[in-house]
Amino acid sequence: MSQHFQHDVLIIGSGAAGLTLALTLPERLRIAVLSKGELANGSTYWAQGGVAAVLDESDTVDSHVADTLNAGAGLCREEAVRFTVENSREAIQWLIDQNVPFTRENEQDREDGGFAFHLTREGGHSHRRIIHAADATGAAIFTTLLEKARQRSNIELLEQRVAVDLITERKLGLAGNRCMGAYVLNRVSGEVDTHSARFVILATGGAAKVYLYTSNSDGACGDGIAMAWRAGCRVGNLEFNQFHPTCLYHPQAKNFLITEAVRGEGGLLKLPNGERFMQRFDSRGELAPRDIVARAIDHEMKRLGIDCVYLDISHKPADFIRSHFPTVYERCLSFGIDITRQAIPVVPAAHYTCGGVVVDQHGQTDVPGLYAIGETSFTGLHGANRLASNSLLECFVYARSAAADIIAQLDQVRPAGNLPSWDASQVTDSDEDVIIAHNWDELRRFMWDYVGIVRTNKRLQRAQHRVRLLLSEIDEFYSNYKVSRDLIELRNLALVAELMIRSAMLRHESRGLHYTLDYPEMLEEARDTILVPPIYGD
Ligand code: FAD
Ligand code: SIN
Repeated sequence: MSQHFQHDVLIIGSGAAGLTLALTLPERLRIAVLSKGELANGSTYWAQGGVAAVLDESDTVDSHVADTLNAGAGLCREEAVRFTVENSREAIQWLIDQNVPFTRENEQDREDGGFAFHLTREGGHSHRRIIHAADATGAAIFTTLLEKARQRSNIELLEQRVAVDLITERKLGLAGNRCMGAYVLNRVSGEVDTHSARFVILATGGAAKVYLYTSNSDGACGDGIAMAWRAGCRVGNLEFNQFHPTCLYHPQAKNFLITEAVRGEGGLLKLPNGERFMQRFDSRGELAPRDIVARAIDHEMKRLGIDCVYLDISHKPADFIRSHFPTVYERCLSFGIDITRQAIPVVPAAHYTCGGVVVDQHGQTDVPGLYAIGETSFTGLHGANRLASNSLLECFVYARSAAADIIAQLDQVRPAGNLPSWDASQVTDSDEDVIIAHNWDELRRFMWDYVGIVRTNKRLQRAQHRVRLLLSEIDEFYSNYKVSRDLIELRNLALVAELMIRSAMLRHESRGLHYTLDYPEMLEEARDTILVPPIYGD
């Protein structure tokens, strides 16, 4: 039997954004936090490098703002950048107050003084400003915040719950379009439950799983972006998919990242013959922004017909390497690569979705009562290319801002009340799961080949044709069979892929992460690509 639940706040996603929001809201509110797998299954747990923030006395807000604008290739919204950076110190202080075990200054050597915690460097930053917990920052943050959330009796943490779709007034045939809750597949009971809430928050992470090779874990399917679009939200800048330059290249290593901090601490990129190549592409060498480094690697791999390039930090003392990068060291060693003596084989892989659901400074979307925070949102912070370690920062700053906005509205918003149950009367069990598996594979493969690091009009047209065929097949499947996690994710990923391709086709220039051989130049005027859902008559 399907069940009905009522909450004050329904948070879909248990990563940095979702947990921060849950912990920042008042304890008198009944809050549910959903995760579609285990609570740790989003990107947050796997974040390595750290969180960018203005913490050192010799650093300034203006400098962090300038670096972010520069990486964003003219497309960042300056007010979003300034808002994020100005709130960075407070957000980090909140994390320190929660007891996140950041690496302290005196545990490691450091060039300049001022702040009690060690700050590392990453590409595109003109200062050391990345606060971190060795090379497992995400795990340290996630574990600490989860522990705090477990101690709060008003926060219910629900694993194995896959949100299928949002419930809005419009979908119920009512006037207005306020979000009133969500239908959620309970993977334990197999039923789709109804969750009603006064406020609903999408904290569902990115969509990098749309590509065959990715640094992200399996859940990064753009569910929040797809649900928001279907509910009537605009989406923005979805053509900007960030490829991390250095993911481990090894047949048994499924999506393992080699943190950019390795290059920040002196790691060098080399060809198989040991020759360095980054200076040929950018005077900042290995510390150029990610789009430039990933494109340079892609170029060299295609030029030489090689499977990977190499990241070498073995010239640094072994103790330094082991203490700065214990996770990377151990993981590589498990594959027989001793990074204190050998270079690491690396390739670029899809890493981060810069665009997302259009929101304001409080994470409020176009649909009243619906917020989007973290990687699923489009705040304007990242522009055409995200600066390293600005993503976790965005999660904390916007989650805290959304909390303040919700608190300000609490008295005006009543409980959503009883909502209709999910209608499963017309569907049967699927006996053709092979079709879902095949479509998954096909989608991710053509997105990698046609909508990857280097694009052309022809490749995008081909991808659009393929994705539209897939969408109609998936629609038919969705109408006739019971929902499963795989089907929900495929449906969302195919929709997000279509939106990405459409956005890429609309951009007749090369800027940041969007590089096309048909329009290699950057236009003078920088414009966002905003797509408007059909309910607004587009
Ligand atoms: P996530 O942490 O991805 O969490 C998403 C949550 O949503 C999960 O709980 C998931 O189960 C849930 N969810 C999704 N869909 C549904 C659904 N339909 N129903 C129910 N639940 C759902 N950024 C930095 O700033 N610094 C770094 O050092 C850094 N390192 C990184 C390293 C790796 C390997 C990766 C992959 C990313 C890294 N990033 C880093 C990026 C950063 O980690 C992410 O952008 C950030 O963690 C996203 O947090 P989030 O809360 O938005 O989403
Ligand atoms: C990394 O550690 O290289 C990831 C940092 C990020 O994605 O911001």
